[in-house]
Amino acid sequence: EKGGYDYFMLKEIAEQPKAVADTLLGRIDAAGTLSLDEVRIPASVLREADKIVIVACGTAYHAGMIAKYAIEHWTRIPCETELASEFRYRDPILDQRTLVIAISQSGETMDTLMALRHAREQGAKVLAICNTNGSTIPRESDAVLYTHAGPEVAVASTKAFLTQLVACYLVALYLGQVRGTKWGDEVVSVIRELSQIAGQVEEVLETMEPVRELARSLADKNTVLFLGRHVGYPVALEGALKLKELAYMHAEGFAAGELKHGPIALIEEDLPVVVVVPSPRGRSVLHDKIVSNIQEIRARGARTIVIAERGDEAVRPYADHLVEIPRTPVLLQPLVATVPLQVFACELATARGNEVDQPRNLAKSVTVE
Ligand code: M6R
Repeated sequence: EKGGYDYFMLKEIAEQPKAVADTLLGRIDAAGTLSLDEVRIPASVLREADKIVIVACGTAYHAGMIAKYAIEHWTRIPCETELASEFRYRDPILDQRTLVIAISQSGETMDTLMALRHAREQGAKVLAICNTNGSTIPRESDAVLYTHAGPEVAVASTKAFLTQLVACYLVALYLGQVRGTKWGDEVVSVIRELSQIAGQVEEVLETMEPVRELARSLADKNTVLFLGRHVGYPVALEGALKLKELAYMHAEGFAAGELKHGPIALIEEDLPVVVVVPSPRGRSVLHDKIVSNIQEIRARGARTIVIAERGDEAVRPYADHLVEIPRTPVLLQPLVATVPLQVFACELATARGNEVDQPRNLAKSVTVE
């Protein structure tokens, strides 16, 4: 049932192009119009929502962090993303005009379930993004958008994450469509590129051998740091989470702009630092800033592992290891940038002799608070 792979995780990483394509299937037509009628959330609710709150845990929370950038940029509706386990304990401000989005692969995560119950008690409407048909979270929500990743067996979430991102992008774009948001050519081309993004995920998978080799060479390290900016920041957090749960290594993700506010003190000779570089097109200011971050950490001896868009020559002189990813619209980059980090963590875990599919102390779905 592992389809010839040694681990479910490897199989699930390889299934990502299909999972992404399946999650998009039938939801964007040739003219770029989104149809999410299956969600069955009244258009009036979507039109009148004045705030969006996303709740989730772990990897799903990272998808939610990325969704915030997309929702606010494309729809201009204020959006916040919160850890489900923190949400109800701080007495959040919610009402009938708040749309809560609960993201969960399993649909059984207790923290997320309690957060959505709390939201509904306050009168908010809840849309679930979920991978498991008929599970508790969609059953208790007002509406659901299913991701079509297929069953995810490995404890470490991979294909579910990519499909959660796709679902979040779809929801963001659909909200804009229903509300009649005036979009320029940028969003029109994002919709087109999103509908074809599976091919780019496939391209990344085909170029992963150097990443595996690099991972094996780092098997005796104690710490790896991850840096990113904008949507690359949650990607950095996700890379660090994967490494913690699979390789049992100390790993931390930071927003690159925070380096100088403390974390740069951690940099020492030969410390591996993975940097997720935003596209030099689009928000080029961020790109330039991160290039100077890479220079700074390298000057202090860090071993830089740079994930950057193909053709980004500016990073090359400062990259001890360069992982090139295909060009995508800025907000969609996490769909391709996360894949090398999954492969990296999986290979490091294997090199360290860890059980990849069932990491110690972890369960696939966390049904206690
Ligand atoms: O089933 P859920 O998406 O609600 O699970 C949330 C987290 O428990 C989950 O993403 C966890 O962080 C994974 N082990 C990450 O790989």
